[in-house]
Amino acid sequence: MLSVAILAAGKGTRMESSLPKVLHKISGKSLIQRVIDSCVELNPDKIFVITGHKSQEVQKSIPKDKKIHVVVQEPQSGTGHAIQVLCKEVKKHEGKLLVLNGDVPLIRPSTLKRLLYLHDSKNADVSLITTKKTNPHGYGRVFLKGDFIERIVEEKDCNDLERENPLINAGVYCFNWGNLSEIINSLKSNNNQNELYLTDTVSVLENALSLEVEDNGELQGINNRIQLSKCEEIIQDSIKEKHMLKGVTFINKASCSISEEAEIGKDVIIEANTHIRGSTKILNNCLIGPNTFIENSNIGSHCEISNSTVYDSQIMDYIKIGPYSHIRPQSKISSYSKIGNFVELKNSQLEEESKVNHLSYIGDSIIGRSTNIGAGTITANFDGQKKYQTKIGKNSRIGANTVFVAPINLGESVTTGAGSVITKDSKDNSLAISRTKQVNIENWKKKKPLSN
Ligand code: UD1
Ligand code: CA
Repeated sequence: MLSVAILAAGKGTRMESSLPKVLHKISGKSLIQRVIDSCVELNPDKIFVITGHKSQEVQKSIPKDKKIHVVVQEPQSGTGHAIQVLCKEVKKHEGKLLVLNGDVPLIRPSTLKRLLYLHDSKNADVSLITTKKTNPHGYGRVFLKGDFIERIVEEKDCNDLERENPLINAGVYCFNWGNLSEIINSLKSNNNQNELYLTDTVSVLENALSLEVEDNGELQGINNRIQLSKCEEIIQDSIKEKHMLKGVTFINKASCSISEEAEIGKDVIIEANTHIRGSTKILNNCLIGPNTFIENSNIGSHCEISNSTVYDSQIMDYIKIGPYSHIRPQSKISSYSKIGNFVELKNSQLEEESKVNHLSYIGDSIIGRSTNIGAGTITANFDGQKKYQTKIGKNSRIGANTVFVAPINLGESVTTGAGSVITKDSKDNSLAISRTKQVNIENWKKKKPLSN
């Protein structure tokens, strides 16, 4: 029987934040969610999440799952106290209890499995993950005696000599729950933080073992925003390396970020300052960036998107977007189309080979194949209460600065005169024009001389 306890009750004072520490995110996912996800892979019988500081907020973020139980620790008197509260609240103390600090978000399921294996095979009372750090500042130092852990001394309680010890406690423990619950109430808070330390249990329990792993970044704990950013970097490096090995080029890797779920095809080039978020999929041979943001969108092959933003949209093949285009949700752009400079598209569908090249707002529209939308064209889709649709048939030529007052429906091969305000539907092959005729008044300057 395996139970898991995730410690997430602390204030996270060093984050200097009104948001509880475990709700801070790295690569789009909260710290607590990451720890939960790693534990779920072990298929435990129960997962207890210990909350306290801003408990309601933390609870709201925890997925509803019948395996996950919330335990509230009030006040928060240390990691040892958190487990005292758990042992009091939950009566059955059987099997193994895997305890994880909620602020060690990169821990891998495979490392947790190694810990469980060591614990079982050596019949330990407690076993925990350790690593040697070149800069161990802030972590508890682990002191061994022969094969066993003798004690753990927190940074704040270390003397100068103890502080030299590079072997640190990662904050991930496997306990024999029965033995732990027998000694947990004997902890004392006679230390420099006046807290009950879970780490003190290793001095009381008999068979305390260390699983020393290589410091490959997964044990990075987060107490402040410098460490938060370090974890982001570790995750981002591993995501980008995965893509590079599969044929993606990054021009300026450090300036880009890619979500874990993103899929990117071969021979895609990602230029500087490009951010791919959510479940975005990009097919082969695209050039993305520089300065581009794409979220939850599908991009076909051979597309070029520069200096632009794309949300929740479908972009087919051989499409050019940008510079400075804004593709808003529910847009669908068919192959060989072009969206150009300073164009905003929202909830609109463009058929193949259509073009909106300059300075336009196209909202709630359907634009037919091979239609050209002239510079400055606007769809007036909102009357203050409702949104209306604009439909323009294929092979149409829309003059510069046309305003479509929706709802409007134009047939195929329609032309509109530049500067027209179109309020009426028009049939196939027609010219729609609505503007006053130009008047030239001669000798205007003489009639109205300039003052001074
Ligand atoms: C802790 C360990 C330290 C280890 C480090 C690894 C102790 C005493 N020290 O130190 O040896 O090297 O983690 O990252 O355990 N929490 C509660 N209730 C509380 C206090 C804290 O649930 O009353 C939770 C926090 O929300 C956090 C976790 O426990 O997720 C660790 O607490 P934190 O204060 O960050 O401990 P560290 O000083 O990092
Ligand atoms: Ca910590």
